[in-house]
Amino acid sequence: MKTAIVYYSLEGNTKYTADKIADLLKESCEVDVLRLEPEQSYPDKGFKKFFWGGKSAVMAETPALKPYQFDATQYDRIIFGTPVWASTFTPPIRTFIDDNPAVKEKQIAVFTCFSGGGADKALAKLRKFLEVDAFVAELILVDPKVKVKEEDDALIAEFCGKLK
Ligand SMILES: Cc1cc2nc3c(=O)[nH]c(=O)nc-3n(C[C@H](O)[C@H](O)[C@H](O)COP(=O)(O)O)c2cc1C
Repeated sequence: MKTAIVYYSLEGNTKYTADKIADLLKESCEVDVLRLEPEQSYPDKGFKKFFWGGKSAVMAETPALKPYQFDATQYDRIIFGTPVWASTFTPPIRTFIDDNPAVKEKQIAVFTCFSGGGADKALAKLRKFLEVDAFVAELILVDPKVKVKEEDDALIAEFCGKLK
């Protein structure tokens, strides 16, 4: 099953997870990885980081993205990866889905990274935005790059096992 992993990561935790998922899935299927980058980067330090990113998420903004190559017709399955921002998914993911509505017709799995609050809400909001009742697989990790834990590898393997 041809799969695209489409993710946004400000500080590397979601990228860390995306890379691990890609490595595992490549053993059983064809995988392309797309990292979304807003034209104007969000601040990644201090108060500004939480203020501007949080505001953008709460306002459901759709920031312009740097150019990327993606053709939904090439894929059977999309795996979205996003940090939790203010208990929702990140604005670049919103822009991508708006720009590529055909992804709503695909099998969809999701992984998300957070620090401890709001992941369930964020996934519920993403399900609603994508107009799907359930994802084929879900994975929620707590800052996996910053706090490396053995159990995260097991959770990542379990998630990939559902996608084989
Ligand atoms: C703007 C902003 C808002 C955040 N809001 C939440 C939140 O509501 N709940 C939470 O648990 N973590 C929150 N976080 C923390 C991130 O979700 C968490 O550190 C995640 O692992 C970061 O992923 P990344 O390294 O791929 O950017 C927030 C971080 C930022 C920058």
